[in-house]
Amino acid sequence: MCGIVAYIGEKSAVPLLMEGLKKLEYRGYDSAGICIACNHRLEVIKRSGRIAELEKVARLNEISARIGIAHTRWATHGAPNEINAHPHLSCHGEIAVVHNGIIENFRSLKDMLTKEGHQFTSDTDTEVLAHLIEKFYQGDLATAVIKALHNVEGTFGIAVLHKDEERLVIARRGSPIIIGLGQRETIVASDAVSIIPHTKKVIYLNDNEIAIIGMHDYRLQNLNGESIANDIQEIRWNIEQIEKRGFKHFMLKEIFEQPEAIRNTMRGRITNGQIKLSLHTDISRIKRIIIAACGTSWHSALIGKNLIEKYTGIPTEVDYASEFRYRQSIINRDVLLIVISQSGETADTLAALRKAKTAGTQTFGLVNVVGSTIAREVESGVYLHAGPEIGVASTKAFLCQVVALLLLALYIKQQNGEQIDPTLLEKIEAIPEQIQQVTERSDELREIAAAYLANRNFLYLGRGINYPVALEGALKLKEISYIHAEGYPAAEMKHGPIALIDANMPVVFIATKGAVFDKVISNMQEVKARGGIILTITDHDNPYLRELSNHLMIVPETLEDLSPLINVIPLQLLAYHIADLKGLNVDKPRNLAKSVTVE
Ligand code: G6P
Repeated sequence: MCGIVAYIGEKSAVPLLMEGLKKLEYRGYDSAGICIACNHRLEVIKRSGRIAELEKVARLNEISARIGIAHTRWATHGAPNEINAHPHLSCHGEIAVVHNGIIENFRSLKDMLTKEGHQFTSDTDTEVLAHLIEKFYQGDLATAVIKALHNVEGTFGIAVLHKDEERLVIARRGSPIIIGLGQRETIVASDAVSIIPHTKKVIYLNDNEIAIIGMHDYRLQNLNGESIANDIQEIRWNIEQIEKRGFKHFMLKEIFEQPEAIRNTMRGRITNGQIKLSLHTDISRIKRIIIAACGTSWHSALIGKNLIEKYTGIPTEVDYASEFRYRQSIINRDVLLIVISQSGETADTLAALRKAKTAGTQTFGLVNVVGSTIAREVESGVYLHAGPEIGVASTKAFLCQVVALLLLALYIKQQNGEQIDPTLLEKIEAIPEQIQQVTERSDELREIAAAYLANRNFLYLGRGINYPVALEGALKLKEISYIHAEGYPAAEMKHGPIALIDANMPVVFIATKGAVFDKVISNMQEVKARGGIILTITDHDNPYLRELSNHLMIVPETLEDLSPLINVIPLQLLAYHIADLKGLNVDKPRNLAKSVTVE
């Protein structure tokens, strides 16, 4: 949700900022802009649209400066045009700001500043910040930023420049900011992906903290002006992990990386028939579990509910984090709140976590991005170790979340003194290889995909633990191909969606063996009888299924509890190939952002 990058150091700032921006484009791509400070002057260049548009500006190649800030925007306030693109300048062009987040009281601030004679050029909340900082500026940028932020309600990750000060001022509340400490240079960004090419030494800024970064030094303060000392940490991801390595898109690369990704989630956590997790949770206290998450992470939570209830007997609810945070939910010390987030920065999920902590609830996180805000604020948790996920549509993080939830369920079972079936562990360890058997058949799915480029609607049906897989399959398709798709529990079809079935409605069935296999077959017959088109994912090749299905994809067999880990792979590939064959921008679908740091 908007990407910020800032640079101060001995190299030329512009190429570094542009390279950093490109790595952040998944966070938003409505417009992009850059501001550099040189010879007591600020120069801003911005364009609507993608970073490629900004790159076309010839002037960028002529600028030589050692300090600059840049931004790629996901529009919240104001249309996605050039005027509303960041950086924003104060009235007299002396101060420039890039901002990720939302200034909630921007209207009242704007009214006040307008009365005081400030003239605004954009519709954004961010421009208000630039003017507010200017209002308080009396020769020291950091002091002015602190004073301005005391008047601001909402969330921000900001980088600020003043034309006469050879320094960057960075501040954070609610939106991530990471400071990368290089050799005689500092790179600041919303995400470590822009920092890793330059340095692995980073400082994570916490809420209500500010950094003042000069050419050769930096200092950190809280918004009360008191000095603080955050630890310097080391990032473990390397540059190869964030490059495409010959794949056409990050999403495809990430689909293919899934066997390795889940091996990494499991690594060291299953040994000698035992599950090893380091939890600071008092398991005996848990009477109820609530899982809060958004988007794809919410789908993995639904699978987790099935697994946790089955293996631990603890009643488990799943809530959208955005609903949980505002609902009068019954939470107390007996509850364990699990938050699931790939990015560790989703605003609603973070708010759900904070709400639960205030109520004295134990908290546990499943997070991919190391050092992210949720990772730092949960009492305990597991990192997914999926590696960086760049494609906006989540794939490998989903799979790793399901694996981590399975491990958590089994760990609780074990801590309750129960044995874990060794066959189950063997089957879990076989999953990466079985996933690879499916990804190797990507071309088959491309052929199937080619038949559906003109369809406007899709239905995805599954039951039991594969109902969330149907939801996830539908979400993947709509996110990247812009085809309307709905996921439904197969048996619920007759209570509504069946009215939609005709020869233009492809229905994807997840029909792998398990408790409800025969029931799913009956649901397929109901679709067939109404002339619907059937695409079946099954582990069970028989003539009857072949007769019912227009396309049949046979996947490797596993236990029903593990089947979502395999069944989702053809659905990811189907969505990917449909979107790619339609010529769409798979990694950066319109209107979406990978990390949603606004509510
Ligand atoms: C956005 C992304 C989704 C993701 C969701 C939750 O909507 O586009 O892919 O599932 O946010 O993100 P999180 O980082 O909290 O898992």
